[in-house]
Amino acid sequence: MVVNEISQRIRGEIRDGKFQVATTIIFSLSIAFSVLVLGMIINDHFKRFVLYEDLSLSALNAFPPLTFPSSSPQCSCMQRCNLSHTPDTLWHSMSDEELMWRASMDPRIAEPPFNRTPKIAFMFLTRGRLPLAPLWEMFFKGNEGLFSVYLHTSPEFSDEPPESSVFYKRRIPSKLVQWGKASMIDAERRLLANALLDFTNERFILLSESCIPIFNFSTIYTYLINSNQSFLSAFDDPRRIGRGRYNKRMGPTITLRDWRKGSQWFEAHRKLALAIISDVDYYPIFRNYCVPPCYMDEHYFPTMVTKVCSNLTSNRTVTWTDWSGGGSHPTMFRANDVSEEFLNMVRFRFNCTYNGEFSSVCHLFARKFHPNTLQPLLRIAPKLLGFNS
Ligand SMILES: *[C@@H]1O[C@H](CO)[C@@H](O)[C@H](O)[C@H]1NC(C)=O
Ligand SMILES: *[C@@H]1O[C@H](CO)[C@@H](O)[C@H](O)[C@H]1NC(C)=O
Ligand SMILES: *[C@@H]1O[C@H](CO)[C@@H](O)[C@H](O)[C@H]1NC(C)=O
Ligand SMILES: *[C@@H]1O[C@H](CO)[C@@H](O)[C@H](O)[C@H]1NC(C)=O
Ligand SMILES: *[C@@H]1O[C@H](CO)[C@@H](O)[C@H](O)[C@H]1NC(C)=O
Ligand SMILES: *[C@@H]1O[C@H](CO)[C@@H](O)[C@H](O)[C@H]1NC(C)=O
Repeated sequence: MVVNEISQRIRGEIRDGKFQVATTIIFSLSIAFSVLVLGMIINDHFKRFVLYEDLSLSALNAFPPLTFPSSSPQCSCMQRCNLSHTPDTLWHSMSDEELMWRASMDPRIAEPPFNRTPKIAFMFLTRGRLPLAPLWEMFFKGNEGLFSVYLHTSPEFSDEPPESSVFYKRRIPSKLVQWGKASMIDAERRLLANALLDFTNERFILLSESCIPIFNFSTIYTYLINSNQSFLSAFDDPRRIGRGRYNKRMGPTITLRDWRKGSQWFEAHRKLALAIISDVDYYPIFRNYCVPPCYMDEHYFPTMVTKVCSNLTSNRTVTWTDWSGGGSHPTMFRANDVSEEFLNMVRFRFNCTYNGEFSSVCHLFARKFHPNTLQPLLRIAPKLLGFNS
C-alpha cells in the first residue's frame, strides 16, 4: 500500500517536473554530510597523533616536571605530605565545611605504606593558657612520638609558649565558644577533624583546662590503644534532666527511645571520630531544636553515636567528674582536697568492664581541678603516678 502510494507520488512528480529539484537537494545534502564526516575523522586522527607525540616526548624526557598548584598552607598536605611525618604546622585557612569534608576521608587499604606507630591525640578545649600546663609537661616528657597535642582556644588568644613546650604551635584555627551552645560542639568537631588529618593519630581524647591525668603516660597509652571500644558515655536518664529535654520536633529522625545523655568528655578511636565529624543528619536537628533546658554537649554525641554506631562505644567515660554535690555544676577541687588517698580513690575504687572483663581501673583523667592545685599535684605526681621515672 505505502509502496504503491510512494511510486504513484514519484510518477506524479516526474510528470510535474519536480523530480530533478528533489534529487538535486538530496545529492547536495549527501555531499555536505560526507565532507563533515571526513573532517571529523581527519580531526580525530590529528588529535591522536599529537597526543601520542606528546606522550613519546614525555617518555623520552623520562621525568617531566610535575606541577602542583602553588602550595598554599592548607593544600600542601593534600598533594605531597609525608604521610608518616606529623605536619609541622597546624594552621590552615579551611572553612569548617572544608575541614570536615577533608577529614572525613577514610583510607580503604587497611595497611599503611609506612611504619605506623599509633598516637594518642590529646585535644584541649580551653579559653587561654592551660593553668595546669606544668603537670601536663611532666606527664608527656619522654614519650615523644606517641602523642600529639591540639588546642582550641579563644580566637583572640595568641600567646605562644617556649619552643621546648609540648604546647608550642599546637593551636588550631579556633572560634568563639559559648558553654552549652552549638558552638561548643563545633569546637569539639574542629578539634577532632584537625587531629584526624594526621594519619598516625589512632585515639582521640577531649580534655578541659581543669582536667588532670591520674596515671602515667605509658599506663594511659596502653589502656587506650589496647581497648577495642571507645569511651563515650551514653545512657538513658528517665528524669526531667534527661528525657525531659527531648523535643518532639526532633522526630521522626530522633525519637524519645533514641534519646541519650552523657558526659561531654569523650574518648574516641579513629572509626568513631570519623563517624562523629561525618554526621550531617543529626547535627542540624540538634542545632535547631536542642535549646535550653536541652544542652547540646550533654545530648548530641551520646544520642547520635548510639543511633549510628552504638557498638563502638563502651557507654562510659574515662574522665571522672564528681557530681555528688548535686546541682548543675560538678565539684571543683582545690589545693586542700589534693591528697594521695583522694587520687587513689579515683584511680582504683570503681567497677567497670574493660575489653569484656571486670576492672577497677575505670578512669584515666579527672576534673575539675582549680589552678591552685598545681603545686600539690606537682609534689605528689612524680611518686604516686610514676612521672619522670
Ligand atoms: C617522612 O617522615 C618520617 C618521620 O618524620 C621520616 O623518618 C622520613 O624520612 C620522611 N620521609 C621522607 C621521604 O621525607
Ligand atoms: C558494629 O555494628 C556494625 C553494624 O551495625 C557492624 O558492621 C560492625 O562490624 C560492628 N562492629 C563491631 C566492632 O562489633
Ligand atoms: C551501649 O548502649 C547501647 C544502647 O543503649 C547498647 O546497645 C550497647 O550494647 C551498649 N554497649 C555496651 C558495651 O554496654
Ligand atoms: C566492685 O565489684 C566487687 C566484686 O563484684 C565488689 O566486691 C565491690 O564492692 C564493688 N565495688 C564498688 C565500688 O561497687
Ligand atoms: C572486646 O574484647 C573482648 C575480649 O576479647 C570481647 O569479649 C568483646 O566482645 C570485644 N568487644 C568488641 C566490641 O569487639
Ligand atoms: C607507669 O606506672 C606503672 C604502674 O604504676 C609502672 O609500672 C610503670 O613503670 C610506670 N611507667 C613509667 C614509664 O614510669
